[in-house]
Amino acid sequence: MKLNPEDITRILKAQIQQYEKKVKLTEIGTVLTVGDGIAQVYGLDACVSNELLAFPENVFGMALNLDKDKVTVVLLGDDSLIHEGDVVKRTGKVVSVPVGEALLGRVVDALGAPLDGKGPISVHDYYPIERPAAGIIERERVSVPLQTGIKAIDSMIPIGRGQRELIIGDRQTGKTTIAIDTIINQKNENVICVYVAIGQQQNKLAQVAEKLKQNGALDYTVIVAATAAEPAPLQYIVPYTGCTMAEFFMEQGRDVLIVYDDLSKHAVAYRTLSLLIRRPPGREAYPGDVFYLHSRLLERGVRLSKSHGGGSITALPIIETQAGDISAYIPTNVISITDGQIYLETELFHEGIIPAVNPGISVSRVGGTAQIPAMRKISGRLKLLYSQYNELASFAQFGSDLDISTRRRLTQGRCIVEALKQSETSPVPVEKQVCLFHAVLSRDFTEIAVDKVQDFEQFLYEQMDEQQKDILTAIRQNGTLSEEEQDTLNNAIERAKKSFINKLSNSI
Ligand SMILES: Nc1ncnc2c1ncn2[C@@H]1O[C@H](COP(=O)(O)OP(=O)(O)O)[C@@H](O)[C@H]1O
Ligand SMILES: [Mg+2]
Repeated sequence: MKLNPEDITRILKAQIQQYEKKVKLTEIGTVLTVGDGIAQVYGLDACVSNELLAFPENVFGMALNLDKDKVTVVLLGDDSLIHEGDVVKRTGKVVSVPVGEALLGRVVDALGAPLDGKGPISVHDYYPIERPAAGIIERERVSVPLQTGIKAIDSMIPIGRGQRELIIGDRQTGKTTIAIDTIINQKNENVICVYVAIGQQQNKLAQVAEKLKQNGALDYTVIVAATAAEPAPLQYIVPYTGCTMAEFFMEQGRDVLIVYDDLSKHAVAYRTLSLLIRRPPGREAYPGDVFYLHSRLLERGVRLSKSHGGGSITALPIIETQAGDISAYIPTNVISITDGQIYLETELFHEGIIPAVNPGISVSRVGGTAQIPAMRKISGRLKLLYSQYNELASFAQFGSDLDISTRRRLTQGRCIVEALKQSETSPVPVEKQVCLFHAVLSRDFTEIAVDKVQDFEQFLYEQMDEQQKDILTAIRQNGTLSEEEQDTLNNAIERAKKSFINKLSNSI
């Protein structure tokens, strides 16, 4: 058989025309089944993972399972508006959310739409919610402290900018309070904050927003929320949304703090979703990739090197345990991903030791590098005395026959415990913390009765504010004290102790 070139051209042309037709066909699919927030769609052969798909009635969905003959889509809206046979359009984009300065001071949902009734948010940029974490070369050691303003944390479990520190504990142990107080303390620290609420009750979220507003912290904070009333897919994507918004600020060289409250509920939302799209269940019915769910999120916490802008994202994920069980599946996963954990205990909370931090099993793997030198110098001794006290206290329960030195150490320990107590929304700046711990560790501090330690604390702060402004400024600005300044501080503390004791005996 002889082929002539014209025939070949004709066939090729026809094929090319058909090729275009075929492409157009695959851009539109049809809904096969819909229910429980999940739609099976036929005919989207070229659809990519996590692609945003447009359904009728302005409902969007995200493609999760890509099978040979169908795509499983989670709906990011009301599934009752969608019916079998509806047309689904590809958008060609993965799920993206608005980012920008305009989000500060706002409460938005998982897709970045306002929830606070303050009108539309004008932004120019949209970033995908899933973005790769910065690589090794772009990263730098964590070395700048992130001051939480919470004495027990800044002194014993310091957090650095770019670190990922887990807050873990049962319900009602003060986890959210620690995170919110940390946000409030960033007012003068030039740190942007993002608070992600996952699966919480609406009234809790309203309280958080109100508290931030009252303390003037909303101006530099974005609240991103998918409450318990929202469908599981929105609860699943909301931490990634928050992280993307945080990355926008980080890429401009800013330091950002992001709180995920909480990742236990996030894992549950993901489990719901995975079971609905029929992914095989594993341990505790979580899907096999539940580790990756949190590791890819928390790996986005980073301190960038100078040549990459020097920004950072500090992540404070929260995990709620059941009856203090930190060895359950999700808690152990997240503990292994983060750079340390702050462990809160119900018993301590009930004993009135609030914040209920258990310093024995709380750690920060970044450690002293995330403290100013003045704090680092005393933190070691404080931790040592505290843990010795805990050990002694458990022995001392058995006998009353204690020698003097043991009794002294017990009293000193009790004073430390008192000094670490702190009520909510009252962050203490680091320079005052340094003064307080110097005082508590000074000789003869036990002259002050244990139940007066908190009064003395306030008295000391007042005295320092009135008479030793220079010392406070020195600690804040240089992070360290010269020998001369150290002496001045010690003298000031001695004077404060004396006049406090005098004041007490006069008032009796
Ligand atoms: N430092 C604190 N001082 C006084 N009350 C506190 C403190 N921390 C928490 N609380 C109270 O304890 C309760 C539980 O706190 P919350 O942060 O909501 O716990 P969680 O998030 O662990 O469930 C709240 O009513 C809160 O006001
Ligand atoms: Mg909470």
